[in-house]
Amino acid sequence: MKPVNIGILGLGTVGGGTVEVLRRNAAEISRRLGREVKVAAVSTRDAQKARALCGADTLITDDPFEVVRHEGIDIVAELFGGTEIAKDLVLEAIENGKHVVTANKKLLAEYGNEIFARAEAKNVMVQFEAAVAGGIPIIKALREGLAANNIRSIAGIINGTSNFILSEMREKGSAFADVLKEAQALGYAEADPTFDIEGHDAGHKITIMSALAFGTPVNFAACYLEGISRLDSRDIKYAEELGYRIKLLGITRKTEKGIELRVHPTLVPECRLIANVNGVMNAVRVQADMVGETLYYGPGAGALPTASAVVADIVDICRLMDAGVQNRVPYLAFHPQGVQPLTMLPMDEITSSYYLRVQAEDKPGVLGNIASLLAKQEISIEALIQKGVIDGSKAEIVILTHSTVEKQMKAAIAEVEALASVSEPVVMIRMEALNG
Ligand code: NDP
Ligand code: HSE
Repeated sequence: MKPVNIGILGLGTVGGGTVEVLRRNAAEISRRLGREVKVAAVSTRDAQKARALCGADTLITDDPFEVVRHEGIDIVAELFGGTEIAKDLVLEAIENGKHVVTANKKLLAEYGNEIFARAEAKNVMVQFEAAVAGGIPIIKALREGLAANNIRSIAGIINGTSNFILSEMREKGSAFADVLKEAQALGYAEADPTFDIEGHDAGHKITIMSALAFGTPVNFAACYLEGISRLDSRDIKYAEELGYRIKLLGITRKTEKGIELRVHPTLVPECRLIANVNGVMNAVRVQADMVGETLYYGPGAGALPTASAVVADIVDICRLMDAGVQNRVPYLAFHPQGVQPLTMLPMDEITSSYYLRVQAEDKPGVLGNIASLLAKQEISIEALIQKGVIDGSKAEIVILTHSTVEKQMKAAIAEVEALASVSEPVVMIRMEALNG
């Protein structure tokens, strides 16, 4: 069989890794496919790097459009990132009848619906395993492995940089800024690290998984984002004393009222497997009606793990490119006619339990006042402890609540903050039991 010709856009962390995987494992990949996969063209601004990585017959160009227009290219791997030039390149590759593999979650979270519609019109495949949780085959699991189920919820540690920072802060007491620099040097962080630490990157990924889980168009605008940059190390410590770890979770859940879609720091009981996922590792927990709970764990970033997912997509396309269109797995896991817009819940309507830290005067009646304001909003307290006295007159009170609707929690917090005995804003962190 004739070789499949790949055009690679960008030789950065993932692009370079992809060329390396295709080179190092060429024999095994050919053995799986019964045909050769050839890097036929590469777009890069670093011709010297490309020469060192690629064969003598690879076209090397600094014009990425030359690759997407090249007649001999079967599959384009978009590994630029971002949404500007990458979107034009992907759409042009599709218009030219090329299959596309991308690791670009931002592009898919924001423009996925348009890209999938164009790809469907042109009968080409768009694969994106590397876009969510790097090397973990979670897209394959959601689209294929769990196809017998009604998926109920997904909760994942899906930003390696944030997890690395939270782990180092907890284990070594390192400063936030130092750990962020280390994550950038290791190639985990996005070009703009605010995307990692403010929850955007995790938001892109949970938005994509939500669409696949519930068969609904991608809707990043509906995703609530709260990152880790304002997290106080005191709360990491108090949470640990209470038997919890704080993780940046992407969460999506189907409820009777609609779909929850959110990213925020979350207290998770330390006995859960996911609470023990540390460093740059990712984990995704899926709750589904027939199988129950499944957990997927692995490296969420880095050159070779991410390239492993890119190359798996290339292999998938090679296997299906000559098969009938009806034999392909739909982009959003459901037949296009079955993909339906669903009600997306605003944060005020989500249900969660909460960790609160209140700084108040250390005098009789203060705790009672706070507890009765919570009771007024029908919020039940699971645990309440006084952590210590600050400046001789103020107490730090930590409260864990049972499940409640977020607008009730916010109303109670506003009333607590209005008490004369409470001087600082209340710290609120959501908690998830993740117990099925
Ligand atoms: P890098 O910044 O390391 O590489 C991107 C490369 O794309 C650049 O090195 C450059 O290639 C090329 N490029 C980007 N913008 C331009 C431009 N305007 N003009 C010309 N060339 C451009 O990014 P990553 O490899 O880390 O990320 C690539 C994609 O993979 C992103 O979508 C990212 O979100 C995703 N991803 C990354 C992971 C990781 O661990 N890093 C994990 C999972 C997904 P060259 O240098 O060859 O000119
Ligand atoms: N910056 C991302 C992370 C890379 O830290 O998880 C993987 O998408």
